[in-house]
Amino acid sequence: MRYRPISQDLFVSNRKRLIRLLKPGSVLVLNTNDIMPTNADGTLGYRPNSDLFYLTGIEQEETLLVLCPDFPDKNFREVLFVREPNELLEKWEGHKLTKAEATARSGISTILWLSDFEKWFHHMMVMGGVSYVYLNTNEHYRASIVVQTRDARFIDWCQSRYPLHTYERAAPLLSQLRRCKQVEEIALMQQACDITQKGFERVLRFTRPGVMEYEIEAELIHEFIRHGSKGFAYTPIIASGANNCVLHYIENNQPCKAGDLILLDVAAEYANYNSDLTRTIPADGRFTKRQKEVYNAVLRVQRAAYTLLRPGVVYFEYQKEIEKLMEKELLGLKLLDKTDIKNQPKGSPALRKYFYHGTSHMLGLDVHDVGNMHDRVQVGSVWTIEPGIYIQEEGFGIRLENNVVIRKDKNFDLMRNIPIEADEIEDVMNSR
Ligand code: GLY
Ligand code: MN
Ligand code: MN
Repeated sequence: MRYRPISQDLFVSNRKRLIRLLKPGSVLVLNTNDIMPTNADGTLGYRPNSDLFYLTGIEQEETLLVLCPDFPDKNFREVLFVREPNELLEKWEGHKLTKAEATARSGISTILWLSDFEKWFHHMMVMGGVSYVYLNTNEHYRASIVVQTRDARFIDWCQSRYPLHTYERAAPLLSQLRRCKQVEEIALMQQACDITQKGFERVLRFTRPGVMEYEIEAELIHEFIRHGSKGFAYTPIIASGANNCVLHYIENNQPCKAGDLILLDVAAEYANYNSDLTRTIPADGRFTKRQKEVYNAVLRVQRAAYTLLRPGVVYFEYQKEIEKLMEKELLGLKLLDKTDIKNQPKGSPALRKYFYHGTSHMLGLDVHDVGNMHDRVQVGSVWTIEPGIYIQEEGFGIRLENNVVIRKDKNFDLMRNIPIEADEIEDVMNSR
């Protein structure tokens, strides 16, 4: 692991808070993710399951957590099953966790080898006073379901082996817990944002007309990795010229031309926690008058959003407020006129031509993090604020995205140190 060790207190307290939400007579089983294959014998880089990491701090494949808070023997109320190391595995893949190391990371004292799982689990299910079995599925509202996860395979196995237990969903409980971040989590997210800042400032010094979008990507990854990140929090979007307006442009294979804007939606992860930054910069270091007008309109909406995304607010109401502000800006920029607004069909506001995505999402161990978007905004949750204006007919678009912690008194900007004013961006680009 590349990051400074995380105190096991975080994982101990996360489990404690989860256990409080379980019904009496419960067992909860959580699997980590598979290593995803490519072709032949190739594999993708490993990504631990966010929920399992949240409860244990363990990033090793084939790990399984069992919580059984009412089990008669208190030594088996929390059990972590890990892959048993062996000489061959260590020769090919390197070091695997010993039991002592798994305990040190997670704070779980009972560590067993995975090969012993079925025997122990049977004991718990039939002699542990277990009526309710909490299992996990990916319930993110935009989840892709093309791959059967280890958790999904486990559900199939468990329900066919133990058909008369009552099954419960772990996902809503984990989502409820994960949306409000602990102090240690905020510190890790701040670290991710600080690494992102280093990458972005390097890009400001590096960018000039003629550079390829992928050269900018190379500058970023260099800076991220040398500061302890595993890399990008998500596939980077480095979109110059008209591609500013393509929300999920990831080709990153075009030259950046003088006069172009470059929209950079690029950020680092740190210790599995994510940041999510967008900045839009001029390839030649100077915004045109029109580009700056639009830039400042987006920035005004972003600034206003800090005061609107507050505890107790419902996200969809906030989005409506942002859209009102955006409409005013689009009128000011002469992109819309009063007639456009008057004639807009119900449910399809005219402003959507220029602003066609949501303004915010929760952020954490996942980039589009868990947490019910219909619930009221909570103190301690972390959100992005990312308005944009995309003008296809003028060949450019602008988005600005920061990450904020919702606090009781005033939201705290994790990206407060990353240049955002148009003049600031120009100054750094021209002082190299
Ligand atoms: N980078 C993904 C997003 O902004 O939502
Ligand atoms: Mn983003
Ligand atoms: Mn985002």
